[in-house]
Amino acid sequence: MMYAQVEISEAEYPRVEYQRRQQFWDPIRLALFTLAIVAIIGIAIGIVTHFVVEDDKSFYYLASFKVTNIKYKENYGIRSSREFRERSHQIERMISRIFRRSSGGGRFIKSHVIKLSPDEQGVNVLMVLMFRYPSTDSAERVKKKIERILHQNLKIKQLPLTINKPSFSLTPIDNKKMRNLLNSRCGIRTTSSNMPLPASSSTERIVQGRETAMDGEWPWQASLQLVGAGHQCGASLISNMWLLTAAHCFRRNKDPSQWIATFGTTITPPAVKRSLGKIILHENYHRDTNENDIALAQLTTRVEFSNIVQRVCLPDSSIKLPPKTSVFVTGFGSIVDDGPTQNKLRQARVETISTDVCNRKDVYDGLITPGMLCAGFMEGKVDACKGDSGGPLVYDNHDIWYIVGIVSWGQSCALPKKPGVYTRVTKYRDWIASKTGI
Ligand code: ARG
Repeated sequence: MMYAQVEISEAEYPRVEYQRRQQFWDPIRLALFTLAIVAIIGIAIGIVTHFVVEDDKSFYYLASFKVTNIKYKENYGIRSSREFRERSHQIERMISRIFRRSSGGGRFIKSHVIKLSPDEQGVNVLMVLMFRYPSTDSAERVKKKIERILHQNLKIKQLPLTINKPSFSLTPIDNKKMRNLLNSRCGIRTTSSNMPLPASSSTERIVQGRETAMDGEWPWQASLQLVGAGHQCGASLISNMWLLTAAHCFRRNKDPSQWIATFGTTITPPAVKRSLGKIILHENYHRDTNENDIALAQLTTRVEFSNIVQRVCLPDSSIKLPPKTSVFVTGFGSIVDDGPTQNKLRQARVETISTDVCNRKDVYDGLITPGMLCAGFMEGKVDACKGDSGGPLVYDNHDIWYIVGIVSWGQSCALPKKPGVYTRVTKYRDWIASKTGI
């Protein structure tokens, strides 16, 4: 039907006009016209590349200033707190308003609050600012331009927060420093595209468990390896220099020069590799009772945080997890009692078990001390196992992950009424601070 209609309209098309068109588009004109179009497109692409691709460069600055019309709150010191998040979002929105609406505002890319600290006049803000300016500009010249925009706008605009003008200072920083500052947050899992990872599904195990699907899913996980003997234990990155692990991991060998730590979701090849400079065992570790099974290992050179290597958050010593809280344990340990180490990192979801239940006669019969934490299932089946020792038991608090346990001991693996026993990290929060300052 459609076909028939087209035919009719073509037949009715005025013949004269059709001929005139043919004359206008003679081959020479057509060629010239095409040439002109190509030239225009070429020039346009040239101009765009000139300004956008070739000649623009990112400029990063560390900005610090005082905000005088708000009072400092205790929780501003904790980056994962609601108070910190709300206040920093407000500051970031305000900064983008200042730059976006000004002339040349398209050059502002983003800002990010790093730290809020107390001041007699209010609150000190430390933040990273990112701009794009022509690469022919110097960091100092761009700095002047930014300062000019800022000073103009602080005068004119009605802003919710009062920035003390003389306190404002800008320091140029390089890309690496900027990344380190942005990545200094703890307990964050991101994919390579910097998107936060979704929470994991709930049916996984290390013993009969699942391999971790993605790089960067557990970016604080490390493997501790004894030179010549391979993987011995897990560990967790708590800063760019320090690993938290179990004291019993060093029963065979306490000499740091004999150990290396690797990061990434496979043991071979590792994503990052470091040697150890120092091993600190808890002074009151008792091998017979497994009490105070906690140790720190310092890397000889710091690691750079990325989406594959991140630190986990240390919980406040006051934090208490109720029984049956969902937590995750990860490691390269065996998947059956006395089996081999796994090359790919595995994870398991387990649940916390109260010490009262865990100390029952039919469970661990009083062996659980206040420095220990039980997690697993009374029916068994899901558990950490040999080689997972020293690794993390983590808790997800609104997409920020806290280490609540260190794999320590258990009777065999995944047996009914014999859950995993972990070092209770909250009990050692002050000990960790006393040794590392973290
Ligand atoms: N001690 C063991 C190791 O050296 C790990 C103990 C964990 N056992 C357990 N059933 N959760 O790797």
